Amino acid sequence: MRIIVTGGAGFIGSNFVYYELEEHPEDKIICVDNLTYAGNVLTLEKAMKNPNFKFVKADIADREAIYTIFEEERPDIVVNFAAESHVDRSIENPEIFLETNVIGTGVLMDACRKYGINRFHQVSTDEVYGDLPIDRPDLFFTEDTPIHTSSPYSSSKAAADLLVLAYYRTYKLPVTITRCSNNYGPYHFPEKLIPLMISRALADQPLPVYGKGENVRDWLYVKDHCKAVDLVMRKGRLGEVYNIGGHNERTNLEVVRTILSELGKPESLITFVTDRPGHDKRYAIDPTKIYKELGWIPETKFEDGIGKTIQWYLANKKWWEDILSGEYTKYFDKMY
Ligand code: NAD
Ligand code: DAU
Repeated sequence: MRIIVTGGAGFIGSNFVYYELEEHPEDKIICVDNLTYAGNVLTLEKAMKNPNFKFVKADIADREAIYTIFEEERPDIVVNFAAESHVDRSIENPEIFLETNVIGTGVLMDACRKYGINRFHQVSTDEVYGDLPIDRPDLFFTEDTPIHTSSPYSSSKAAADLLVLAYYRTYKLPVTITRCSNNYGPYHFPEKLIPLMISRALADQPLPVYGKGENVRDWLYVKDHCKAVDLVMRKGRLGEVYNIGGHNERTNLEVVRTILSELGKPESLITFVTDRPGHDKRYAIDPTKIYKELGWIPETKFEDGIGKTIQWYLANKKWWEDILSGEYTKYFDKMY
């Protein structure tokens, strides 16, 4: 099988590349990524040594470049991780979110129609459902929960999901979509809550917690997400949406306190700052469908996953220190 993985130099995409190379050594992985601030080719250093892996630098919204790649690579499966992914950045500057997340998804699917593929898989997010009240722990997002977005980021992801479903209905493009909750683990860019708090706590810097820290996220270890995407893109029913999540709800304050306690740092580092505009209160996934249809269950408990993640950040300081110092962009300029 020849698989194009877009966004494979980012957090989840790179974990997925390693998952595929390990679990399906017979398949060929072609990573397509234009190396934005969030893409780091050094993350793929080990993959580059594998003859079944190839890296191509290209923007998914660049039609000509994408058609050329499809012409040369003739993929069987395309899995789209490429996106602008940070909510705060989308509030500052929504435009690039529309370009990459909506137009880019459309261009990829047009290439799939033109060259023919077995499967286009769209990696989406639970944020398309909006949020749930904090005082209703009985409520969860199912695949039938209406789309009700809050931020430019989630709106762009929802628009892409609708486009994917339209291509299924109108052109019979063989598609699937997964909507996952918050991931954590190795190679997570240090602008997101968990790696930001780890890197700042290690430097004894204040930890900026939005509002009162009461917002709830449903955390999933990244490898569990990769396993679910792999299952759905190979065996999921065409035209279907699958929610992914592991019933691991935590308030942001609980997460930050856990990190401080694991690192032996004082809670006095916690600093409450102005809330994110439109801040979603609570996310919580009901993963019954993927469990019943494909037998997927999350394998990593939050207590174990957060410990492993912290150990990874301690053992790979250079990876995130180079990002924070801007050192890695110099490497890109030299190589690409
Ligand atoms: P990330 O920001 O870490 O990585 C995104 C990658 O996409 C980077 O390598 C970047 O260079 C690349 N990219 C961006 N624009 C591109 C373009 N125009 N063309 C080609 N490549 C481009 O993101 P992530 O956290 O790994 O998220 C990956 C996907 O998973 C996204 O679609 C996101 O919406 C979705 N998702 C993320 C989470 C999460 O918790 N991080 C949860 C659910 C779903
Ligand atoms: O739910 C899936 C989504 O999870 C993905 O679709 C997004 O791509 C991904 O970025 C993530 O979105 P969040 O907004 O939930 O993640 P973030 O790490 O930015 O924030 C997590 C929570 O922590 C959120 O409630 C905001 C809060 N926060 C975040 C930062 C960066 C803080 O309190 N302080 C911070 O400095």
